[in-house]
Amino acid sequence: MPDHPVPDLEALKKEAAVRATHLVRSGMRVGLGTGSTAKYAIEELARRIQAGELTDITGVATSEASDTLARSLGLRVEVLDPRPLDLAIDGADEIDPQLNLIKGLGGALLREKLTEIQARQLVIIADHTKVVERLGQKAPLPIEIARFGFLSTIERLRAQLPGGRLRQPGAQPYVTDNGNYIYDAQLPETFDPATLERQLKGTLGVVDTGFFLGMATHAFVAAPDGVRELV
Ligand code: 5RP
Repeated sequence: MPDHPVPDLEALKKEAAVRATHLVRSGMRVGLGTGSTAKYAIEELARRIQAGELTDITGVATSEASDTLARSLGLRVEVLDPRPLDLAIDGADEIDPQLNLIKGLGGALLREKLTEIQARQLVIIADHTKVVERLGQKAPLPIEIARFGFLSTIERLRAQLPGGRLRQPGAQPYVTDNGNYIYDAQLPETFDPATLERQLKGTLGVVDTGFFLGMATHAFVAAPDGVRELV
């Protein structure tokens, strides 16, 4: 038996989220991520606003779910416009040592990328299970594809990345907030993420991929022995 109880993953995710919200200052425009970890950050932001610790915060949500959650907690939420965001806080499916990411298992990759590319700082929050030596080690690569002609697009993708499947949790394919489908691709042992990203983005029918390369500025990664800040 360990001397101290081992915190569960939910407690770790919350710890990372709370740390990230300490970077938020009054008056900031903040990108609100999507997923079970980002949810803790939205809740903590709302709590700090309610407690009077932060004022004049504007959120820009990366999904309908985060928009609904943030508004339900009383946050002011605006749509994305061309102004920069001061900060965005979001989870990730994989984080490599250079802070390159795979995102999109939660299905929000396109709105996340559109929002977070405009953030001066992109702060990733995660538990330690998300840290990998190389991308693709644990997670598939989510690729958002147009619905029209999706079977043809999948054939084009399979020619480049054999394996993988259309995301289909039930009888029907999963539909993103943008009305598209997601193809979860298996990544090979070795590849260059930037080259593969360019190749995939040049594939007809692909809307965007879950590679977030060179975008994250910090990560707070919570493990049973504490929260590490990666920069
Ligand atoms: C959604 C995402 C999420 O940030 C990612 O899937 C991590 O989610 P969670 O915090 O629930 O593990 O990219 O599109």
